[in-house]
Amino acid sequence: MSSTITALEWTAPNVEGLVIMVTGASSGIGKTTSLLLASAGASIGLVDINEPREVEAFINETYGSGHSIAVACDVRDAQACLEATQKVIAALGALNGAANLAGVIGKDRKIRTSQGQLKEMEDSEWNRVMRVNLDGVKNCMRAQLQCMTERGCSIVNAASVVAHNGAAFNSAYAASKAGVISLTKSVAKEVGSQGIRINAISPGVVDTPLIAGMAPDNKTNAAFGARCALGRCAEPEEISRLVIFLLSSYSSFCTGATFNIDGGW
Ligand SMILES: NC(=O)c1ccc[n+]([C@@H]2O[C@H](COP(=O)([O-])OP(=O)(O)OC[C@H]3O[C@@H](n4cnc5c(N)ncnc54)[C@H](O)[C@@H]3O)[C@@H](O)[C@H]2O)c1
Repeated sequence: MSSTITALEWTAPNVEGLVIMVTGASSGIGKTTSLLLASAGASIGLVDINEPREVEAFINETYGSGHSIAVACDVRDAQACLEATQKVIAALGALNGAANLAGVIGKDRKIRTSQGQLKEMEDSEWNRVMRVNLDGVKNCMRAQLQCMTERGCSIVNAASVVAHNGAAFNSAYAASKAGVISLTKSVAKEVGSQGIRINAISPGVVDTPLIAGMAPDNKTNAAFGARCALGRCAEPEEISRLVIFLLSSYSSFCTGATFNIDGGW
């Protein structure tokens, strides 16, 4: 009797040989994403306002020279983003993907204090957060899309759980991240027919320098993170694994989506 079942083969998410540009690569989630990508055989364009020389040296010493290049770039500067993308391609080859993770948080970032209220916020502070978090993602995506020539490319943008829920005393940050989600959805619709996918991630509390000092009552990041269902904050590499899934062909039917990764916030 002939079977109508055809065997399906399970393969792990594979990023070996891909060229990926990571912004925010000097610290936190961008750094762990770059290190995990390198260990999986990808080449990484390490982009940050603080040139990621240390990460570059570690990757090239551990995995062989030519596996990464560090590029200093302020994502607020559109021309600098285009030049950074071109430098990555000149050094490592055609771009297969990008993780746009560079970001800043409100400077008066103590939660549940009167600091950081919109009614007292200076425009300079609003603009600082918007320019990095929202214009920065726009500048990087536009440069990356102008340079992406192949089908199958994937872009991942950093949003945040507060984009969905709001964040008292951190309204500029929350609004900038809501903008990232809308930008991601819109541009994904523009480039889907070219075989390019674009998704966003919404992390909860992740133990990185971004949130140092943010917890109320001088609590640690760990205590701050304990407010979610899993009772702890994430390690940055737990977020990086989702980023890499979205960069890989394993997520081949995901685009224009936002993936919450917040421990049940
Ligand atoms: N840590 C969290 O709890 C958390 C939660 C939700 C979302 N996020 C988002 O994840 C992303 C990564 O955050 P992280 O926690 O790793 O932060 P981080 O502070 O550890 O790293 C951010 C990196 O962005 C770089 N950067 C800042 N301004 C820049 C600019 N103008 N141009 C280029 N690079 C610039 C910094 O130099 C730094 O290396 C951010 O977009 C952040 O908003 C973080």
